[in-house]
Amino acid sequence: MLLEDKKLLVTGVLTDDSIAWHVARIAQEEGAEIVVTGFGRGLRLTERSVQRLPSPCDVIELDINDPGHVEALTGDLTERWGRVDGALHAIAFAPEDALGGNFLNTPAESAQIAFTTSAFSYKTLAVALLPLLEKAGGGGLVTLDFDNTQAWPAYDWMGVAKSALQSVTRYLARDLGAHNIRVNAVSAGPLSTVAAKSIPGFTRFDEVWGERSPLPWDSANPDPVARMVCVLLSDWAPMTTGEIIHVDGGFHAIAAGSGPDEG
Ligand SMILES: NC(=O)c1ccc[n+]([C@@H]2O[C@H](COP(=O)([O-])OP(=O)(O)OC[C@H]3O[C@@H](n4cnc5c(N)ncnc54)[C@H](O)[C@@H]3O)[C@@H](O)[C@H]2O)c1
Repeated sequence: MLLEDKKLLVTGVLTDDSIAWHVARIAQEEGAEIVVTGFGRGLRLTERSVQRLPSPCDVIELDINDPGHVEALTGDLTERWGRVDGALHAIAFAPEDALGGNFLNTPAESAQIAFTTSAFSYKTLAVALLPLLEKAGGGGLVTLDFDNTQAWPAYDWMGVAKSALQSVTRYLARDLGAHNIRVNAVSAGPLSTVAAKSIPGFTRFDEVWGERSPLPWDSANPDPVARMVCVLLSDWAPMTTGEIIHVDGGFHAIAAGSGPDEG
């Protein structure tokens, strides 16, 4: 099995629509032992959704911006496993006034919250897990990106935070390579999750994917994204780091769809 004997932390599990939930499911099916994290008012939902995993697992409370929670996470995993082989960072948040076409009027504080929670937090998680990854002799970290190399409708400061997240991925790869830790991002096409539905105009993303993606993209199917995350957490990508891997049906490679006349 792909992830036999791996001990993996999966953050960002909210409902069983969460990309992270599907990563946890497939990782368990592939032999991994999993602990997930839940956040704030969503914690109860996380506790409910893990009951629907192949083997219901423990949930650790984690507000990535709360240093007490981060310290407790390291402590819990040290006692529980004494090592960690890898982790998924699936955390993002932007205040309402940082999304939805309000780009020119967004206050600095709201843009900063989007950056801290959605990009800087990858560094926070990496540092918290570093001693445990070292105990494992190295490992893999994966985050979830939405490609922001071009400006999107409505995505606004969340898009800026995603550009920062790509950069954080490269700097973490630079600094953690000596510890045999690979740091990558999976850039996903649009998937219908709670986070996605909170973006005003999210349906527009779906429409453009329908026009441009060479492979037929299904925003109700997170499996392809979750599978790639699992590959990157496995021993099958041992020399891949600092990479942004697109799992978007090929959308990023195509400038325009073929249009009605050309089929
Ligand atoms: N759904 C998409 O279309 C899509 C596409 C590309 C990338 N992504 C990214 O995938 C990741 C997971 O999102 P999702 O779509 O599965 O939605 P989701 O709503 O299921 O997950 C978002 C998670 O972020 C967590 N979170 C928010 N603030 C937090 C904090 N302060 N501390 C800890 N956790 C916090 C939430 O609890 C939730 O579990 C996000 O980074 C998102 O930007 C999503």
